[in-house]
Amino acid sequence: MPLNNIWMFIVIFHIRIDQTSADGLDQNQLDTLAETLKIEVRVIDNLRREATNHIVRTTLRNDGSEPIPASGWRLYFHSMLLVYPDVFPKNMTKELDVEQVRVGMVQGDLYFLEPMSGFKPLPAGSARNYNIVVSLWAVQRTDFMPLWYVTSTNVTVQQRVVRSTSSFDLEYVTDFDDVRQWKRWRGDRYNPFTPQERAERLAYDDSNIVIIPTPKSLQIDLQKPMTSFNTSWKVFAEDNIFNDTALYITG
Ligand SMILES: *[C@@H]1O[C@H](CO)[C@@H](O)[C@H](O)[C@H]1NC(C)=O
Ligand SMILES: *[C@@H]1O[C@H](CO)[C@@H](O)[C@H](O)[C@H]1NC(C)=O
Ligand SMILES: *[C@@H]1O[C@H](CO)[C@@H](O)[C@H](O)[C@H]1NC(C)=O
Ligand SMILES: *[C@@H]1O[C@H](CO)[C@@H](O)[C@H](O)[C@H]1NC(C)=O
Repeated sequence: MPLNNIWMFIVIFHIRIDQTSADGLDQNQLDTLAETLKIEVRVIDNLRREATNHIVRTTLRNDGSEPIPASGWRLYFHSMLLVYPDVFPKNMTKELDVEQVRVGMVQGDLYFLEPMSGFKPLPAGSARNYNIVVSLWAVQRTDFMPLWYVTSTNVTVQQRVVRSTSSFDLEYVTDFDDVRQWKRWRGDRYNPFTPQERAERLAYDDSNIVIIPTPKSLQIDLQKPMTSFNTSWKVFAEDNIFNDTALYITG
């Protein structure tokens, strides 16, 4: 085959791909994307900017068997904290030129991430990281929200929740196992209790029981399992000023 015919073939091939993806993912492709897009977020560092903002490393891994196309889809997510506080909501989009993705603010806590024109399809089995700047700090799983979803640029295709973010246990957020993740700023005195410290604090003996108002007398049966207050408890207050407290404890 003469050389110019080969070039012709390549050019036509590329145009065809662009046209397909410009129409957006069809329902099957979007369903597959929602099932196979493995999202993971990890707080990298609350301390570097002294609690003014932190970086959330957002990993998109393609657990499917086909590449994730270079266009035709959008990934929506919620963030209680303002994303890119130096940009939003003054501008409603922020382009990450190296990563070739655009982050956009819709309104309130709703944001999206979408591929830009230079985005390379994400091959099956591979992953990419996006470091997103978020205001203040995040120190626990519940600082994140579940139920990310994907849409097609073809608006007749139904949006789908990304399965890897659908659990309310927030399994897509990695553990807070580094001091830069669990402290909000350098001077923060908080450190999570080790299992040993926790056991010591909860140790069941009459020297460290704290009940307010403090009972006049307390009998503890160490043979019985530890219990906690519930509505079967009766609190007798001699002094009427504890009425409300007694009500609260028994309530
Ligand atoms: C959009 O999707 C619908 C099916 O939901 C399909 O009939 C239509 O051809 C698609 N449009 C384009 C431009 O691909
Ligand atoms: C907002 O967008 C305008 C126009 O695209 C741009 O010139 C400006 O630098 C952007 N500002 C920020 C803070 O990104
Ligand atoms: C309260 O807890 C005790 C055990 O500590 C249990 O036997 C009892 O059924 C509970 N009552 C209510 C109303 O939950
Ligand atoms: C507390 O409760 C008792 C019994 O219900 C009542 O007689 C008394 O007035 C209450 N005292 C206050 C301060 O509410």
